Amino acid sequence: MHRPKMISSLKSLLVAGGIALTGAMGALAATAEAATAPAPPEQEWHHGGVNSFTSMFKTFDRASLQRGFQVYKEVCSACHSMNLVAYRNLEALGFSEEEVKAIAAQYEVTDGPDDTGEMFTRPAIPSDHFKAPFPNAKAAAAANNGKAPPDLSLIVKAREHFEDYVYGVLTGYRDAPEGFNVPEGGYYNEYFPGHVIAMAPPLYDDGITYADGTPATIAQQAHDVTAFLAWAAEPHLEARRQMGVAVIMFLIILAGLLYAAKRRVWADVH
Ligand code: HEC
Repeated sequence: MHRPKMISSLKSLLVAGGIALTGAMGALAATAEAATAPAPPEQEWHHGGVNSFTSMFKTFDRASLQRGFQVYKEVCSACHSMNLVAYRNLEALGFSEEEVKAIAAQYEVTDGPDDTGEMFTRPAIPSDHFKAPFPNAKAAAAANNGKAPPDLSLIVKAREHFEDYVYGVLTGYRDAPEGFNVPEGGYYNEYFPGHVIAMAPPLYDDGITYADGTPATIAQQAHDVTAFLAWAAEPHLEARRQMGVAVIMFLIILAGLLYAAKRRVWADVH
């Protein structure tokens, strides 16, 4: 008797939820339009994107992450720090403990003071954080036409359009349109806000040689390094999603059990 009523109220609840969600997404889209650069084209991400609500079962492509680390190491790390990432975190990309040790040992870091009060340098170890290219932001700005290259640890999550923005900037260098004045030391970029960026185009076709033999086009390097930066910004993405799936399954089973229990309890009441 009461079941149709329950279903219909459930339906109206769903409809109300849908309307609220559509409204929220409309508001989000409106803020996006207010930005000073066109929205970068959407890319396909193996992990579905750090801000995706519909990628419950998607995971990082480890091979792409390793290539992306190679791009960061050989290109971006000349200017950009990644202060929140330690060498040992690279094990999550599929590198062995020995490989991580060898990667860390390629860098000299300052440590100390020693027993005589002096600072000294030593090869980095896995627990050290990535070595920064400049000692401080002023030195970084002085070496880059007055604009310090931002730390890249969280850049994917810190910008609107997430991965698509970083990929867009890396592949967005164009000739400036007729009449657009690009100041000295600046470069025209389709997707950087204001279109003038102080970063020279960092990527070139075959600018690096991938360890796994993948052809190193600009697009491939931009894709891989962006995936790597997404991992750096959201290293627990996979565990977080698995937890979400487990919680939903638990709720479905719980709902089934509760319904069965309810039927049993009320079975004799007519
Ligand atoms: C020669 C130095 C240099 C290299 C190499 C370099 N960058 Fe940059 N990058 C800069 C500077 C300087 C800026 C700041 C530009 C500005 O504010 O106008 C910047 C800005 C950026 C931005 C925009 C950040 C924002 O605020 O929205 C991203 C993303 C970025 N770099 C990623 C990379 C990646 C990824 C690499 C490696 C493929 C790389 N960069 C290589 C110097 C460099």
